[in-house]
Amino acid sequence: MTRPENHTVHILNGPNLNLLGKREPGIYGARTLADIETDSIALGRDLGLEVALFQSNHEGGIVDQIQAAREVAAGLIINPAAYTHTSVAILDALNMFDGPVIEVHISQVHKRESFRHHSYVSLRADAVIAGCGTQGYMLALRHMAELLKTA
Ligand code: DQA
Repeated sequence: MTRPENHTVHILNGPNLNLLGKREPGIYGARTLADIETDSIALGRDLGLEVALFQSNHEGGIVDQIQAAREVAAGLIINPAAYTHTSVAILDALNMFDGPVIEVHISQVHKRESFRHHSYVSLRADAVIAGCGTQGYMLALRHMAELLKTA
């Protein structure tokens, strides 16, 4: 299957990211997932990208969202949260997605506990952004716009 010829980008978020803004603000900041959605749709408009944001607390829910994205999205930005460090199922689903994949982590995972240093998703990701706070999603969108221009 080839990737859709459009400028649709899905931003997928894993468990506990629905509580951004309330969740350990010293690590993850004050901005909510709704703020990130508003900002990324607005930036996407400037970049010529159609952006849609999804979140699931369940591994299978994220797998379903990746599978659905194959049909409709040219690129994927994903913060798999804790599943980054454990999920072969998410890696397998990403391996069936044909467009560019950018992995985002709000925190600088390599400065944290050693179990956060390994990412299954990095085996597939074309770029990884970590430690830039929620701004990392905006950096990912800018890079995605470049990747989709040259793809
Ligand atoms: C995270 C880092 C993960 O280790 C953690 O489990 C998360 C969020 C981040 O965005 O920094 O839930 O992906």
